[in-house]
Amino acid sequence: MERDLTPDWILQQTLNVQNTALMSFLKDKQSEQNDGKRGGLTLTVLGCGTMGIAILGGILDSLSSTSTQEVDSDAPKRLPNKFNACVRSSKGAERIKRELGQYERFKDVTVYQNDNVKPSQDADVILLGCKPYMIGPILKAEGMPKALEGKLLISILAGVTEQSIQSSLPSAEHSKIVRAMPNTAAAVRESMTVIATSSPPLEDETAVLVDWMFTRIGRIVHLPSSNMDACTALCGSGPAFTALFLESLAAGAIAMGVPRDEAYLMAAQTARGTTQLMLKGGQDGGVEHPAVLRDKVSTPGGCTIGGLMVLEEGAVRGTVSRAVREATVVASRLGEGKSGVNGPRP
Ligand SMILES: NC(=O)c1ccc[n+]([C@@H]2O[C@H](COP(=O)([O-])OP(=O)(O)OC[C@H]3O[C@@H](n4cnc5c(N)ncnc54)[C@H](OP(=O)(O)O)[C@@H]3O)[C@@H](O)[C@H]2O)c1
Repeated sequence: MERDLTPDWILQQTLNVQNTALMSFLKDKQSEQNDGKRGGLTLTVLGCGTMGIAILGGILDSLSSTSTQEVDSDAPKRLPNKFNACVRSSKGAERIKRELGQYERFKDVTVYQNDNVKPSQDADVILLGCKPYMIGPILKAEGMPKALEGKLLISILAGVTEQSIQSSLPSAEHSKIVRAMPNTAAAVRESMTVIATSSPPLEDETAVLVDWMFTRIGRIVHLPSSNMDACTALCGSGPAFTALFLESLAAGAIAMGVPRDEAYLMAAQTARGTTQLMLKGGQDGGVEHPAVLRDKVSTPGGCTIGGLMVLEEGAVRGTVSRAVREATVVASRLGEGKSGVNGPRP
């Protein structure tokens, strides 16, 4: 009877309040679940310079642009949600703030100067991003072997093997070391990163995490460790070799009267178009063979085949591939800690 006397609008308001409370509870629950999926790991970049900033930038960008409702399908269950960036100088620290401060998730980054132990203790995953010759002293410093015990170490150090990193960490038996070789195009999220296959293989969740980290900055391939020096030469030195070729392309046009700025732009865009054709043109989603691409534009009796003949006379193929082989040998010698490795050889 009393219920009948309660006006409809009061009943409706009560229902609305209940509904709002329920929705808010469900939203919080959903957000907690998403945080569980998305967060949880602390990533420390030991040596956060050019490459460290590019990789961290890719990760922060990806996390900042993914809403709580949508998690990338390739994402591991636990993503990094706290970040430590370690440098030596105040200039290095300022650079991080200048280059990464734009990302919403920069609030989760702590910059450490001349202090590697605390951020390593706090980390689950450590990206080694210092110069190759610095790694021994950094890993052997007081407190570091203990701080790194049981952690996942990802090294991007050119020429430095997993074994040589392990030898700097005699007591950190349980650390897992993964070697990866990104390139300078990481800065524009177009890196070609080679990830060395681990033996024994990584646990699924670790492998997914490593792949996810490097796909934030471009493409990845997996190859055995024995290929890493050649990959360093192809992908690490490749941008410099390609830049020389682009400079030569533009120089030819400049010599024939094309304005300088336009010539460089045209050379760069031509290379970009060519790489897109190669990357997207193959059968079954594979890469198009460069010779197929070359043949397609070489009309019999035309200007392209005429130019190609000149390149063949200049032994461009042999010279460029020899440069890659030379860089491979130099990379492996640098990795052994040798200096003066570019001297003449018999
Ligand atoms: N650059 C590339 O294209 C490329 C490509 C593939 C792989 N790699 C590899 O990536 C690594 C980094 O190269 P990079 O070009 O990024 O070098 P980088 O710009 O010189 O960065 C090195 C970083 O290490 C920091 N650092 C120096 N001493 C340290 C210490 N004791 N503790 C903690 N941090 C310290 C430096 O800080 P300060 O600035 O304060 O001294 C700097 O932030 C190298 O091992 C290289 O072989 C580079």
